[in-house]
Amino acid sequence: MKQEPASIILSVRGLETRFGSHVIHHELDLDVQSGELLVLFGGSGTGKSTLLRALIGLDRAAGGSIEFEGESVEFQSERSWREVRRRIGYSFQNGALFDSLSVGENLEYPLREFTRLSADERRKASDEMLERVGLPGIRSLYPAQLSGGMQKRAGLARTLMLDPTVILYDEPTAGLDPANTKMMAALMLDLKAQGRTGILVTHDVPCARMVGDRFAFLQDKKIAVIQTRNELEAAADPRLAAYMQGDIA
Ligand SMILES: Nc1ncnc2c1ncn2[C@@H]1O[C@H](COP(=O)(O)OP(=O)(O)OP(=O)(O)O)[C@@H](O)[C@H]1O
Ligand SMILES: [Mg+2]
Repeated sequence: MKQEPASIILSVRGLETRFGSHVIHHELDLDVQSGELLVLFGGSGTGKSTLLRALIGLDRAAGGSIEFEGESVEFQSERSWREVRRRIGYSFQNGALFDSLSVGENLEYPLREFTRLSADERRKASDEMLERVGLPGIRSLYPAQLSGGMQKRAGLARTLMLDPTVILYDEPTAGLDPANTKMMAALMLDLKAQGRTGILVTHDVPCARMVGDRFAFLQDKKIAVIQTRNELEAAADPRLAAYMQGDIA
């Protein structure tokens, strides 16, 4: 059977990022297929979070180009980044809830910023989302009153409020117990089943195996390897295999 070519939702070419003179990415290319869940592995400090942040302009790239849904992102234009950030949700490594706002206010924050929904509509939407991530009835609690697992789920819930097309997951299961890890994996699979594209940065190999369609490895400032699940199972690239077996950091 002839396979349809996958459509590319996000295309990165020649990306260069640096902090001062410290070059993090150099000539990095990456194509993300629409609807896939792409796992991004790589040792600590290789620039996985920086890459996710660069995709939405939180860390500004020093060079290269990004196309999202066939349109070039204008690196110099705050308006262009705002549009990207409306469609690409970033679930931060630490949840990144605002400490001084209740959970409900946290979830409603993006709606205030990007939509014209009324207070009632915002409340209804945030209650529904809390229900969906398995946290019903906690809207009036503050982040400090939540466990780590709850904070991560509430953070993801906030990311989902604007109904993003692409979701960037930065270590969503780090520090979670097995039950919460399972719940987070189920949530990622659920979002994938709804057709959302995801990029998952993680050191959690079992979780990645559970949800990933393709597996990329960031090394030497670029995407050194990228394999589909089938390719990985048939003949894993030695660098990916070593990383997944814990032989390299
Ligand atoms: N705001 C910043 N200012 C200066 N250097 C930074 C900044 N953010 C990250 N770096 C540096 O960039 C490099 C890549 O960091 P990054 O957080 O992207 O790594 P990572 O692959 O996500 O690591 P981890 O797996 O530990 O989360 C590191 O050397 C880090 O020290
Ligand atoms: Mg990181």
